[in-house]
Amino acid sequence: MASEQTLDSLLTEDRSFPPPPEFARQAHVSDPAIYEQAEADPEAYWARWAGELHWFRPWDQVLEWEPPFAKWFVGGTLNAAYNCLDRHLDGPRRTKTALLWEGEPGDRKSFTYEELHAEVCRAANALRKLGVGKGDRVAIYLPMIPEAAVAMLACARIGAAHSVVFGGFSSESLRDRINDAKARLLITADGGYRRGGIVPLKRAADEALTEQGGCPSIEHVLVVRRHVEGEAVGGAQMEDGRDLWWHDVVAGEGAEAPAEEMDAEDLLYILYTSGTTGKPKGIMHTTGGYLTQAYATTKWVFDLKEDDVYWCTADVGWVTGHSYLVYGPLANGATVLMYEGAPDAPDRGRFWKIIQDYKVTIFYTAPTAIRAFMKWGTEWPSRFDLSSLRLLGTVGEPINPEAWIWYHLNIGHERCPIVDTWWQTETGAIMITPLPGVTETVPGSATRTFPGIHADILTLQGDCIDAGGGFLAIRRPWPSMLRGIWGDPERFRDTYWSKWQGMTVAGDQPGEGVYFPGDGAKRDERGYFWVIGRIDDVLNVAGHRIGTMEVESALVDHPAVAEAAVVGKAHELKGQAVAAFVTLKDGLAPTDELKRELSEHVVRKIGAIARPDAILFAGDLPKTRSGKIMRRLLKDIAEGRALGDTTTLADPSVVARLKDDYESKGEG
Ligand code: WTA
Repeated sequence: MASEQTLDSLLTEDRSFPPPPEFARQAHVSDPAIYEQAEADPEAYWARWAGELHWFRPWDQVLEWEPPFAKWFVGGTLNAAYNCLDRHLDGPRRTKTALLWEGEPGDRKSFTYEELHAEVCRAANALRKLGVGKGDRVAIYLPMIPEAAVAMLACARIGAAHSVVFGGFSSESLRDRINDAKARLLITADGGYRRGGIVPLKRAADEALTEQGGCPSIEHVLVVRRHVEGEAVGGAQMEDGRDLWWHDVVAGEGAEAPAEEMDAEDLLYILYTSGTTGKPKGIMHTTGGYLTQAYATTKWVFDLKEDDVYWCTADVGWVTGHSYLVYGPLANGATVLMYEGAPDAPDRGRFWKIIQDYKVTIFYTAPTAIRAFMKWGTEWPSRFDLSSLRLLGTVGEPINPEAWIWYHLNIGHERCPIVDTWWQTETGAIMITPLPGVTETVPGSATRTFPGIHADILTLQGDCIDAGGGFLAIRRPWPSMLRGIWGDPERFRDTYWSKWQGMTVAGDQPGEGVYFPGDGAKRDERGYFWVIGRIDDVLNVAGHRIGTMEVESALVDHPAVAEAAVVGKAHELKGQAVAAFVTLKDGLAPTDELKRELSEHVVRKIGAIARPDAILFAGDLPKTRSGKIMRRLLKDIAEGRALGDTTTLADPSVVARLKDDYESKGEG
């Protein structure tokens, strides 16, 4: 969580930006009355949105709510892939570009809606031949290539739930996710390009499938050939009987495949995300409500129009890639751009060159990326023609006002509204955001709830805070809300719905029905939300969620480590970085080599995104008299602040020693 100081500086932000009049004139929404209209009857409002999708059978009831379990569009049936593809084939969208793709080395592909439909059908037929069908799970471990979207939509078409695992996760993380979901099929690639190098995904997949018990549920592995060296990369081999090349099994299939009729509440996908324990949670999203809100928010938040070229830079491995690279924009019939690689490959102008080349009109990225662009300097964007842009977005972490203003001036050229969108893997779609034709924006604030969403700031006792800080709370079910944690219904209730359990919230609502996202936030005088960050043991490193417990478990898994405590420390570019305090087993010497080894160990266990920025060997960790590690103090040390209250500590001298060590070793 950000320090009080940052918080105060956020709230003294007084620059504000009304929607540019020419933007408001053409926007889908320019009348603020929409908020009251949605509020007057939220169910009718969401039903209107759902009515813009294609249903095989209409729903009987909009919402069934038995806290914390919600069902949306009860009795309705639809198919997500059908909504993203087939329903666009009747009119001019048939030959409209659905997907524009650029690989890091510069290779390009594009698909019309008709072509993407055919490709998805071929893949769906291939999956069916491999025995995958309704109710099965399929793991997808791919680079950012068109086949990632095709594979997701093919699963949706046949009613199999996908579980996409970010390509930056290690083989161990992949194995855990496959085993938790008991996936029957894994779809991967020989490799992908990243910053000039090759990420050897198939090799990692082979390790996942063969080491430490492997993945008994996997029957086949479909391997996309991303680059010509194929199996030579990193020694990955095709295993007879198990592994099949995607091009061998998909290309020969027919270009038509029936779309499975799915219940609105059938599982669409599982996506694992970090929580407060060592084990990631499989967040479950179902079909009807998820698609409705992904569709609605894409249309209004990005003011999406028929001739837009829409680019979301998120990887398909994260929820943003699910909702705003695949389902939301394709359900809207948009032209979506997908780019495989890094923003600085081959040089720091790559993103701006892409915007210029493809005449991108809507650009959605993360504050971490914006801070990197700032650091690289305006000379990069200024070399390119960015005049096609008309709207900018940001997501994943709080954006500092400086970065917001830089984005506004140097990318948006003071012409483009910026939508700062707050949401989570669990919420499935955007929850707090400006509407670009309506909302006056203030740098650093996600402003208001999307129409139809009800959020508040609450105290620990469940009282509403009209102006000031507290716990962010969602007080009404929303269509794209998670339906549970795969295989762990109790954890679902405990994690998200127990904060105000047994209390009366805001004077009249039973606390059981109030969702706690894990974020702290403030509200200013005009009612705008300022999301400050996680208040649980979850870090947000470069916009990626990492549980402190996950990193701690990875560290204590190393034979040299006795105990580990991990905290987030403020980082100029990444927002937060991982700082680890480690005590070694008796008799072991703290060396730089061991430090490097521990760092590599974390990368091997979780993935490079969890690599600690700083590791400090400690003789002892500061604990309360009841034995709890005092993370707050460790955070103070890691961030170089004066120490907070140490009176509850079992041994206050431990902390002073640690602080001295930390500072003298120059880790701060
Ligand atoms: C944080 C990403 C401030 C927040 C879509 C949330 C944000 C977590 C914002 C979810 C924002 C996301 N302003 N903080 N606009 N957007 N967050 O599940 O802490 O990867 O709980 O979903 O990111 O991260 P997740």
